[in-house]
Amino acid sequence: MRLKDKVAIVTGSAQGIGEATVRRFASEGAKVVVSDIQGDKAAAVASSIVAEGGEAIAVTTDVGVRDQVQALVEATQERYKRLDVLVNNAGVGLVKPVDEVGTEDYDRVIDTNLRGMYQCTSLAVPLIKKSGGGSIVSIASVHGVQGARGNSVYAASKGGIIGGMRAMAADLATTKIRVNTISPGAIYIETMRDFIARDIGEDGADEFMRLFRDKLRDSYRHYQPLEQVGETADIASCALFLASDEATFITGQNITVDGGMTTMMNDPESIGRMEKIRDTHGEMGQWMQARKAELAGQK
Ligand SMILES: NC(=O)c1ccc[n+]([C@@H]2O[C@H](COP(=O)([O-])OP(=O)(O)OC[C@H]3O[C@@H](n4cnc5c(N)ncnc54)[C@H](O)[C@@H]3O)[C@@H](O)[C@H]2O)c1
Repeated sequence: MRLKDKVAIVTGSAQGIGEATVRRFASEGAKVVVSDIQGDKAAAVASSIVAEGGEAIAVTTDVGVRDQVQALVEATQERYKRLDVLVNNAGVGLVKPVDEVGTEDYDRVIDTNLRGMYQCTSLAVPLIKKSGGGSIVSIASVHGVQGARGNSVYAASKGGIIGGMRAMAADLATTKIRVNTISPGAIYIETMRDFIARDIGEDGADEFMRLFRDKLRDSYRHYQPLEQVGETADIASCALFLASDEATFITGQNITVDGGMTTMMNDPESIGRMEKIRDTHGEMGQWMQARKAELAGQK
């Protein structure tokens, strides 16, 4: 039990990397606060942790809204009287070239990813201090240090998280609060269906997943030289290590968990792998176009 009796808040933990992290923490003895803007899903995750013998509460929180973050910290204090670990995981993406980015796009990404991390950290620190120190882990991204088309706002938010982390680590070292970031590479998450459903409806999404889920998942192998699919569990393990007492001498660090994705530049072998991803995406794109045309024809 590597987190026995520790109390941990994980933001954005109703699904994906956050859910894997909160479940892993609970299985290692932590009392967890499942926090997400999707309140119903967060409650379901907390209930299932409790049903499996763990300790959890759910708190609906938009990390971009200061009063809600304050309420999250207060709910944690009221229930568990302390806080040892904060994982700033809640995040949203955006793929748009810089000259098409509007103020709304910018605000949505920066308010959630950067303001959210900052706000949760600054409001949680007093309780972590009172608890005698602890660990803050923020989920950044390889995009925080590496360029990609259409990623300027997301990259700015994640680069900001990494830069802010180093200064916060310096601010908080004397109070025994460690601050680190994890930069994931390409991690397969099961939420693709939700995006597809928004585009072509529930039936279409079911059919899409039936046809392409395994192929899509498998295509994630090709993003990195290790040639294995990046899993939410890979990020949860790293977060567990940084949260635990095994990492008491580590602060101010960004740990890249990417299967080696960022180790190679312009390498012919990596270009070959990218072509395989492009083939899968091309096939999925064609199918989606055909389905959209069919739906438009029915109107
Ligand atoms: N999946 C990847 O390949 C990958 C790679 C690098 C970094 N990341 C980062 O990992 C984190 C988790 O992403 P994921 O891949 O699990 O995606 P996801 O969309 O499955 O999870 C994100 C979660 O954050 C929640 N959320 C969104 N806005 C919120 C808000 N304002 N307040 C509170 N909760 C909010 C969502 O409801 C969702 O549960 C994000 O910060 C993301 O940028 C993911």
